[in-house]
Order: sequence, then C-alpha cells, then structure tokens
Amino acid sequence: MTEIINWNELWKAMRSGHQHRGDRGEDMGSRWDKRAKKFNESVMKHTERTQRQIATLELKPEYTVLDVGAGTGRLSIPIAKQVKSVTAVDPSKGMLACLQENVEREGITNVTTINKRWEDIEVGVDIEPHDIVIACHSLSMFDIQEALRKMDAASKGYVYIMNFAGRWMGNGDGKLWKAISGGGRRSGHSTDYILLYNILHDMKIYANVDILDTEFEQHYDSLDDAVEQWKEMRDIPPEKEDVLREHLSEILVKNSETGALSFKRESKSATIWW
Ligand SMILES: C[S@@+](CC[C@H](N)C(=O)[O-])C[C@H]1O[C@@H](n2cnc3c(N)ncnc32)[C@H](O)[C@@H]1O
Repeated sequence: MTEIINWNELWKAMRSGHQHRGDRGEDMGSRWDKRAKKFNESVMKHTERTQRQIATLELKPEYTVLDVGAGTGRLSIPIAKQVKSVTAVDPSKGMLACLQENVEREGITNVTTINKRWEDIEVGVDIEPHDIVIACHSLSMFDIQEALRKMDAASKGYVYIMNFAGRWMGNGDGKLWKAISGGGRRSGHSTDYILLYNILHDMKIYANVDILDTEFEQHYDSLDDAVEQWKEMRDIPPEKEDVLREHLSEILVKNSETGALSFKRESKSATIWW
C-alpha cells in the first residue's frame, strides 16, 4: 500500500487549505486564543460526550497522562481526577488560561501545562514518556506522520487519537460549504480518521478503531452571535457572511421561552488506539 498511495502526502494536501491563515502570519495558537472563551463555555457543557470518551480509555490511579492539544481541559480535568498526573500541551495561551481557571475552580493540583505546539516538543527534553497519550480533535499538524511517531515515542502504554469519522459538518452544511467555496475543493470533508489509520498502518502500527455516535449541541444568544462564531470556527470569509446568515436562519432552532437559538448535529467520531 505504501508504494501506491502516500497517505501522509495526501494528508498534507488536504491540510494545505487550512494553512492559508498560517501563511498570513496567524499561527494555530493565536487562532485558538480568539476562540478560547466561547469554546470553553460550549464544550465544558458536553459532559455526557466527555464521559463516554473517557470511558473508552484505560486509566489507572498510578498513571501519567499526556494530553496533546488539551484545549481548555475538557478531557484533561476529568482524567486528572482518576490518575496520578496530567500534562496538557497546547500552543494557545488563551485555551490554557481557560484550562487553568477550570483546574482552579475544581481544586485540582495534578495538571501541568506546556504552552507549545506538539511539533516543537522534544521527548526526553520537554517531556518524559507518559503512561498514556491522548489527542482529541487537535490534529492540525501538517506532517501528521511525524506527529504520530512522536506520540508513539512519548507513550509507555496506549495512545488514543480521537477524530471525526466522515464529514465534520452536519448533512445540511454541505450546501453551505458548496456556496462558500464556489463548488470548489473544500467540501466539508476533512482529514478524518481513515487517513490516520492508513498512515499508522504504513508505520507498521496496526491500531484498533472504535466508532462512537456523538451529538453536538451549541447555543447562541442571537443570530449575530451565531454568525460571528461560525465565521471564526469554520474559517468563513467576511464576503460570504450573507450566505452564512441565510443558512443559519434556516437551521437554527429558537427556544420559545428564552428566545435563544440552538444548533444540534449528530455525527460519528472515531477513537484510534494502539
Ligand atoms: C478543537 S480543540 C480540542 C481541545 C480538546 N482536546 C478537546 O477535545 O476539548 C483543538 C485544540 O488543539 C490545539 N492544537 C492545534 N494545533 C496543535 C498543535 N500543532 N499542537 C498541539 N496542540 C494543537 C488547539 O490550540 C486547540 O486548543
């Protein structure tokens, strides 16, 4: 298979559409800095999804866990309650500031943060190998094969990678994406788990895969709030705001009592582990 398709190059080609902001000098850390507060408010409510994800991990009280792209600690914090310690790596100061607030609110003392991109971490220098390594929806790395190799090297036991299975957008969102991209290459398909699985296979890592049903729900104060958040989270250019606004006014559901708007999406996610 290695000789026919170079999965890592395919990953790079698919990621290259996401690099344009980087080309304009905006790195991944500062992109997430801007989203941090809203992201935190939203994801820290998803306790059921988080609990289901954590239930798939083998955690023991004596374990050390490394969370690559830990964000605001959605997984790091409940994991820290079950293990000896957690190291949370993330390039976004804003995300780590929220994580720190969450940690303090919960009275947790066994989470250490490292404000770096995974690419810039040197195992044996910045961190020692941990019992478990996890990375959940944080695989923005361009050279993913090298990133996976390093995760493997950083783990004394299991590595768990969680990523989308299939489209990361909801079904109806394909139409929006088409309108925004002018029918071009970016069709709402992203670098999903199957590429990772094939890359690992070429590395002679024969991983296990579990597919989970996930439900994602997000609430907005108003249509303007929703437009702002979608523009930021989904890289939608300002000139396409009208298309986005129309789409959101069709799909968001209004709560008759509070007037708040909500968006619900059912999707699949994969845990790849070895
Ligand atoms: C969608 S959030 C997921 C956060 C958390 N893992 C969760 O499941 O809630 C993605 C996070 O990955 C981080 N991230 C992006 N690129 C990264 C990289 N190259 N190395 C480490 N973390 C990265 C971002 O800063 C962000 O905090």
